[in-house]
Amino acid sequence: MLRLASSTEPAWAARALGSLEELLIDHAHCEKKAAGTALRLLFSYPHHDFLQQPLARLAREELAHFEEVLAALRVRGLRLRPQRPAPYAGRLRERVRRSEPGRLADLLLCSALIEARSCERFGLLARAAAEPGLASLYAGLLEAEARHHGVYLDLASEALPREHVRARLAELALHEAQVLSQAPELARLHA
Ligand SMILES: [Fe+2]
Repeated sequence: MLRLASSTEPAWAARALGSLEELLIDHAHCEKKAAGTALRLLFSYPHHDFLQQPLARLAREELAHFEEVLAALRVRGLRLRPQRPAPYAGRLRERVRRSEPGRLADLLLCSALIEARSCERFGLLARAAAEPGLASLYAGLLEAEARHHGVYLDLASEALPREHVRARLAELALHEAQVLSQAPELARLHA
């Protein structure tokens, strides 16, 4: 179950697919950033053994997804290029606490929410995509994002007592929904 405080309206997917090049390029950048986020946690918290193996695996999976999206661009005659990112992740992390262990728990919970939102939206895209290759790309990634959501929640529960994690997740989920509702009109996974 995804712990999101809002649902994306299904019409979002048709709009996003209408700007497929922008959407795929954003998606590639998102997969690369997800790998980077996991790696940054490994560098920032080498003393937390519980993070190391799960996040190393997760970073590898995100990079494999990055390669999948690069291939999806290539078969359509498109290429990765720099792109203005959605402000979503930056704004989401504005609420991350400064002191530990709250900081680590919040970083993990923000990643859990990003994975949940990606999962929700891949589901909508898989249903709306007319092209079978595209529908199967999104359907394949959806399962991994749901699993990553769970991995980040489990890790947060090792950083803080479970009841604190539950309460903090509810707060951050409300913030995530608000950030998304104020997002600019861009063809992005998180806009
Ligand atoms: Fe992921």
